[in-house]
This record gives sequence, structure tokens and C-alpha cells, in this order.
Amino acid sequence: METLATRDLTLGYGEDIIIDDLNIEIPKGEITVFIGGNGCGKSTLLRSMARLLKPKEGGVVLHGEDIAKLPTKDVAKQLAILPQSPTSPEGLSVEDLVKQGRHPYKSIFKKWSQEDEQAVNQALNATNMSALKDRAVDSLSGGQRQRAWIAMTLAQGTDTILLDEPTTYLDMTHQIDILDLLFELNERNNSTIVMVLHDLNLACRYAHNIVAIKDKKVYAQGKPEEIINCSLVRDVFQMNCDVTYDPMFGTPMCIPHGRGRCLIKKAMTESYGTPSSKVN
Ligand SMILES: Nc1ncnc2c1ncn2[C@@H]1O[C@H](COP(=O)(O)OP(=O)(O)OP(=O)(O)O)[C@@H](O)[C@H]1O
Ligand SMILES: [Mg+2]
Repeated sequence: METLATRDLTLGYGEDIIIDDLNIEIPKGEITVFIGGNGCGKSTLLRSMARLLKPKEGGVVLHGEDIAKLPTKDVAKQLAILPQSPTSPEGLSVEDLVKQGRHPYKSIFKKWSQEDEQAVNQALNATNMSALKDRAVDSLSGGQRQRAWIAMTLAQGTDTILLDEPTTYLDMTHQIDILDLLFELNERNNSTIVMVLHDLNLACRYAHNIVAIKDKKVYAQGKPEEIINCSLVRDVFQMNCDVTYDPMFGTPMCIPHGRGRCLIKKAMTESYGTPSSKVN
């Protein structure tokens, strides 16, 4: 059964249509990754799936119900989203940011509880942010800030998590840490995870299901092994590549062509006759 689905969904800004008449189903308990070129509408689609953007036509269904008709707190208890460029009030501490993830569980009758405290501490630990919990979010490095926001998203304790480029700004170690953490969450809690990733090779390692977007539509959807090939990469990213297999995991691995150091040097030597002293 799907957790989230779009029904004849059309999205846009003003007169511009960005996503046109889209019907996709996000499989429950799986990791789905949206891929596509810059500006193709991945963030627009993700935001509309979290009800942050009103559709022009059609709608989004969450656990079988029209998301537009659900009370905000009900949506926030079922689904958390980390947008592409989140902003926090000046001077807000990491801990206070993460505590905001518990907002859907608060009411005038229900004050801060042991469960809230536990969820916040778990999220801080899981993202390696405990030592930085008293720092102001706006004083952190880009990668630390990204991890603080991921912690807030995790503290919400939802069974569905949407993340827009969660590994942006992160160094290699933290990219892998965050993706491992999301994979563990998926395995342990059967969480449904939908994220946008630009690194196709990491997408192939971690995704059960990839959705490639192009020209306002889904170009292809399925397991990485079934859909990632040279023609998809050429059509979706306008890039020639070789597709081989990841030596660690056997998942598809894309090696982009381009000209690289060697071909640029060769072309320069052919044109100007002397080898460049800068390119080795
Ligand atoms: N608030 C907005 N108002 C007007 N146009 C917008 C708005 N937000 C996005 N767009 C436009 O909609 C299109 C899709 O943007 P979107 O951010 O969804 O792309 P994306 O696939 O997430 O790109 P990227 O990989 O660069 O993050 C782009 O042409 C963008 O300029
Ligand atoms: Mg985006």
C-alpha cells in the first residue's frame, strides 16, 4: 500500500506549469529518491507532497486521505519535511530548533514530556549534534546547520520523512553517516523516506525506488538496477556516461564523460603545439 500518492497533480507558479498531471505512488516502508536536473521541479513536488504548496490541479493523498483536508497537526504527526533551504530565527539554539520538531504533540493540556525529551536527545545523538546543542544555529558551519535541521526533522517522530537534498554541505563522512542513519531508520522503524539527491551513485546505493523527473513528468520510476542506464542519464541530465557497477555494493555506478584533465590537455596541445605547464 502506498503512503503518499499524487493524483493528477499539476503544480506551478503564476502562469508557469512546473509539474503536469502527475500520478505517482510512494511505496510504504521504502526509500524513494527523486532525481533530475536543476530546475526540473523536484523541490516543488516535494513541497506540495508536504502540503507546503497548493496544487493548481489535482491533489496529494496521505494514507488514503486527501492531505488538503487533514488538520495541520495530524499531517505533522504523520509526515516531516526538511526543505532545501530552511531558515531559523536569529540566535535560536540547536536544542531549541530540534525541540520545535515536537510542536505537533503540544497543546495547552499537554506540556513538555519525558517522551519529548527522549525524542530530542535521540535526534541530537543520531546526527552527532549533542555537543553543539547550545550553539546558535546561525553560528554553525553549513554542514553542522544541515545536521541540526535533520535532527529537528527526526525529532518529529513521523513514519514518513521527506528531505530535500539532505546531504548538501556535508563532507563525505557526514553524507554517508546521514544516509546510513536514514537507511537504519527505514530498516528499524519501517519509515517511508522520500528525498532529493543529486549524487546518482549514492542514490543507487540507498534507494529502493528512484523517480526520475524530466519535462514536467516522470521520465522513469523503479529500482535503481532496473532504470539507471546511459540513456536515462543522457536524457535526464544531458550527459554522456558509462554505467558500471559499484565495486562495494553492486549497484549501478555512473561515470560521467566530460573532458577531464587528460582530454583538455590533449586538445590544448593539439591546438597550440606546446603542452600546458599547468595541467598534469
Ligand atoms: N517561488 C517560486 N516562484 C516562481 N518560480 C519558482 C519558485 N520556486 C521555484 N520556481 C521555479 O520552478 C522551477 C522548479 O524549481 P524547483 O526548485 O522545484 O527545482 P529543483 O528541481 O528542485 O531544482 P534544484 O535541483 O536546482 O534544486 C524552476 O524553474 C524555478 O525557478
Ligand atoms: Mg531543489
